[in-house]
Amino acid sequence: MSKILVTGATGVVGKTTIVHLLKKGIPANEIVGLARNAEKAEEILNTGIEIRIGDYFDYDSLLQAFEGIDKLMLISAHAFTDRITQHYNAITAAREVGVKHIVYMSIMRKAGSGLVMPEVTESDIFSEQTIKASGLNYTILFHPPFTDVLSFYYGLKPYENGFKLPGGKGKMAPATRDELAEAHAAVLSQPGHENKTYILSGSEAVSFADIAQILAEVKREPVPYTTITAQAYNELRASEGIPAHLTGFVTDWVIAINSGEYAEQPGDLERLLGRKTRTFREFVESSRA
Ligand SMILES: NC(=O)c1ccc[n+]([C@@H]2O[C@H](COP(=O)([O-])OP(=O)(O)OC[C@H]3O[C@@H](n4cnc5c(N)ncnc54)[C@H](OP(=O)(O)O)[C@@H]3O)[C@@H](O)[C@H]2O)c1
Repeated sequence: MSKILVTGATGVVGKTTIVHLLKKGIPANEIVGLARNAEKAEEILNTGIEIRIGDYFDYDSLLQAFEGIDKLMLISAHAFTDRITQHYNAITAAREVGVKHIVYMSIMRKAGSGLVMPEVTESDIFSEQTIKASGLNYTILFHPPFTDVLSFYYGLKPYENGFKLPGGKGKMAPATRDELAEAHAAVLSQPGHENKTYILSGSEAVSFADIAQILAEVKREPVPYTTITAQAYNELRASEGIPAHLTGFVTDWVIAINSGEYAEQPGDLERLLGRKTRTFREFVESSRA
């Protein structure tokens, strides 16, 4: 019996990947979720899958958790949490216990742009190189911005406050975490994805100005769009209580999106899902309903 382990089983992407594996007909006894907190894992335990306890910082716990696993879905750790150590431990433990295939979620990087997203790009490249050097089969899945967290960048009260963002009109091709998790499940449950790299951008390319217009049309209320400096955007987010180390990070994301870093649309996600992804308008309308 072949076993698939999904890390981050208590988080949104990991949990949803497990749900999609079950929907695709993978039996619960062939799926293992990794959690570092047993209490948090109780909800996903109701699906009948096995939960193993392990922490990316605790190498021995990973050796035990990965025992007998064939395919490992490595959900990337958050920025500002020493992703390099965490991912290195997970990849090395997988190799040591004989995992055959690692699937890793990276963040999209536009060819030739050279843009470095602090706390993300360096650890993504390190993780991809470590996986490739491990000799294990791999699949690298490049993720776009998540549709369902875009409001974190443009603000949670667009109708009251409008959009106030640094300049740039670049488009991005976001996808929801649910769609991305379904693509993970497709890669994990089908043959033929060994040693491949996919760019999981969505079917629709939108700019923040497009998003403001869509929000205005959906609610029939204006969403004014104002361009401000990066410094002013930083200060605005700080005034909302976002910690200092994160305001610069959020600003960097908006600038990267506006420069078109996440606009590439090779169609990989559509092929893995067998359909187009939801448009931003569809996402907002279904969230309101
Ligand atoms: N593309 C984008 O727009 C975007 C945006 C934000 C983040 N991301 C990336 O996507 C990843 C997944 O997103 P998400 O929404 O699913 O995040 P999430 O809901 O916060 O889930 C993260 C998962 O990782 C687990 N985890 C964290 N540190 C760990 C450790 N040391 N050992 C073992 N497990 C650990 C968490 O466990 P606990 O439940 O115990 O905390 C949780 O299960 C993020 O971690 C980040 O790398 C991408």
